[in-house]
Amino acid sequence: MSGEDAPTQQQPEQEQQKPDQAPPGSPEESGSSPGATAAKEEVEAHKTFPCRALVLTGYGGYDKVKLQVKTQKKPQLKAGEILVRVKACGLNFAELLGRQGLYDLLPSPPVIMGMEGSGVIEAVGDDIKDKKVGDRVIVLNRSGMWQEVVVVRTERAFIMPDQMSFEEGAALPINYLTAYMMLFEMANVRPGKSVLIHMAAGGVGIAATQLCQTVQDVTVFGTASAAKHETISQGGVTHPIDYRTKDYVEEIRKISPKGVDVVLDPLGGSDTQKGFSLLKPLGTLIVFGAANCVTGQKKNLLAMAKTWYNQLSLGTMKLMQANKAVCGFHLGYLSDEELISKAMVKLLELYSQGKIKPRIDSSFRFEEVTDAMRRMHERQNIGKVILLPEPKKEEEKPKPEPGENVGKTEAGAKENKEETTKEVKAEEA
Ligand SMILES: NC(=O)c1ccc[n+]([C@@H]2O[C@H](COP(=O)([O-])OP(=O)(O)OC[C@H]3O[C@@H](n4cnc5c(N)ncnc54)[C@H](OP(=O)(O)O)[C@@H]3O)[C@@H](O)[C@H]2O)c1
Repeated sequence: MSGEDAPTQQQPEQEQQKPDQAPPGSPEESGSSPGATAAKEEVEAHKTFPCRALVLTGYGGYDKVKLQVKTQKKPQLKAGEILVRVKACGLNFAELLGRQGLYDLLPSPPVIMGMEGSGVIEAVGDDIKDKKVGDRVIVLNRSGMWQEVVVVRTERAFIMPDQMSFEEGAALPINYLTAYMMLFEMANVRPGKSVLIHMAAGGVGIAATQLCQTVQDVTVFGTASAAKHETISQGGVTHPIDYRTKDYVEEIRKISPKGVDVVLDPLGGSDTQKGFSLLKPLGTLIVFGAANCVTGQKKNLLAMAKTWYNQLSLGTMKLMQANKAVCGFHLGYLSDEELISKAMVKLLELYSQGKIKPRIDSSFRFEEVTDAMRRMHERQNIGKVILLPEPKKEEEKPKPEPGENVGKTEAGAKENKEETTKEVKAEEA
């Protein structure tokens, strides 16, 4: 079985395509009479619908992620499950790693990628009391979010504030949970402290900067490409540093000879060593990524070896004598649902109070997933890159400049049969 036609995670059983039939929970379907007969229910259970999904078909470059249209049966929800029609999904650095085979938590291909998204509930399991059909939700999942319809556990879905767009909903969970837990659960950032944020113009970087603004007098040092400095300064970075042309350690020492209280390190390798050296006494270094392993769309063994060779390595005695803390954070390995839920509630509160707001860099249709990934690989994004399952419309206007595309995605994705057929053919070629 080829990667392209193999069944993937989260996908209900596939059947022969009958594209005219309504998706489960759609207006046509929910209009059926409550006293439907058993025979009618039997027919309903066998209805099929098309579902567009972005499938990782093998490890490698951009071409390994393919848009596929699957025909599947109406999912039978188990207790505790909800069915969500996805309106927007987040692209994360982890998916760039995953495509190269460098992300442990992603199941082997073929697999539908995507760890976060937002959408509308179309059906709920019998026992669900806290959510209903029509609710707009943010969903956090291990994988499988890059498709039109998903079945997820209810505790992994969070009701969206009314004023939040689907793009913002999809941009929030991973970046903000990561930043929130590192800053407030691990580093315990308090008034007057200083924080070094690498990749400060990226998704986590902007989230971390905004969260630092919720605490009085926090000084933020942020590394980013020079072209992004104006934007990140406006967003709250006190001292933007161009890591490409300057030695950021020297630059920080010029401004703050003693160093910083907190370093958030998504880079790994020699940067972790630099981060540790920059800590003030009683400071905290949090390692949460290894972006230095990635240099382009394909796996770079040399960069991986260099990052591994230069990683920070020290014994507990040395750590004790240094009076510094070194922590690791990985949201994917955090299995405590209660911790995650509590932090999400707090983040949604901060959003409703206007204290945080995801910055959408750009939105791409599923058909344009290569452009979306390229934008991040080529370091062009300022904020979050979003993927939209709804098919691209012929009359669609040219893509807006980064940062402009922050509007709401309207509900009601319509299937464009001609386009769908074309895409499937293109993949088969
Ligand atoms: N542990 C966790 O739970 C967790 C969760 C989320 C994210 N992360 C980590 O946090 C980091 C940021 O992730 P994100 O999803 O928010 O992505 P992102 O920050 O939007 O990443 C893209 C930006 O990072 C900068 N960058 C630095 N090194 C890069 C490289 N090797 N390749 C491409 N861009 C690079 C570029 O900006 P400049 O032009 O300014 O350099 C680029 O525009 C990643 O290391 C990721 O693995 C960890």
